[in-house]
Amino acid sequence: MAILKVARLGHPVLRQQAERVLPADIQSAQVQQLIDDMIETMHEYDGAGLAANQVHVPRQIAVIEVAKNPRYPDAPEIPLTVLINPMVTPTSEEIEEGWEGCLSVPDMRGVVPRYTAVRLECLDRQGKPVDLVAKDFFARVIQHETDHLNGIVYVDRIRDMRTLSHIAEWQRHWLGVREQSD
Ligand code: NI
Repeated sequence: MAILKVARLGHPVLRQQAERVLPADIQSAQVQQLIDDMIETMHEYDGAGLAANQVHVPRQIAVIEVAKNPRYPDAPEIPLTVLINPMVTPTSEEIEEGWEGCLSVPDMRGVVPRYTAVRLECLDRQGKPVDLVAKDFFARVIQHETDHLNGIVYVDRIRDMRTLSHIAEWQRHWLGVREQSD
C-alpha cells in the first residue's frame, strides 16, 4: 500500500478523458494495487472520493467512502464503493446546490448544482456489475468523481463563482448559510 501524489488543478491529467478498464484487467495485480493505493490516499487526505486521474492514472476508476469525515462533518456516511467504468444517469430532474471541495483544489470550497438522484452503473473491484440508485450526498459524490474521469473539475460547474471560498473564510462566513439552498 502506498499514499499517492495527488495532482492539483492545472495539471493536464485532470483534464484528460480517462480510458475504460478492460473487464479482464480488473483482477490484475496492477489494477488491484492501484485501487488499494487510491483507498489509502483518500483516507490519508480525508477525501470523500478519489478518481484515478487525480493520482496521474487516466483510467476509469474511482473510489468513494464517507465514514465520519472531518472535511464533511455533517455528511451522511457512505460505504466504501469502487467504481470502474461508471455510467451515471439522473433519475429525476431535481437539482440541488451544495458545497463541494476537492483534493485537487486544496483548501477551497464552492457551491455546485447537482442532480439529487442518479443511477450508477459500473463494475466493482471484482468485476461484478453494480446497478444502484444513489440520492443526495452519495449522488453528489458520484457525480463529482465521474466528472473527474471525464476531465471535469467541480469548479467548472459552479454557477455563482462568488461562492468560491478559501476554507478558512468559508468556515467563518458561509458555513451553514447555503447548505439547503435552492
Ligand atoms: Ni475531486
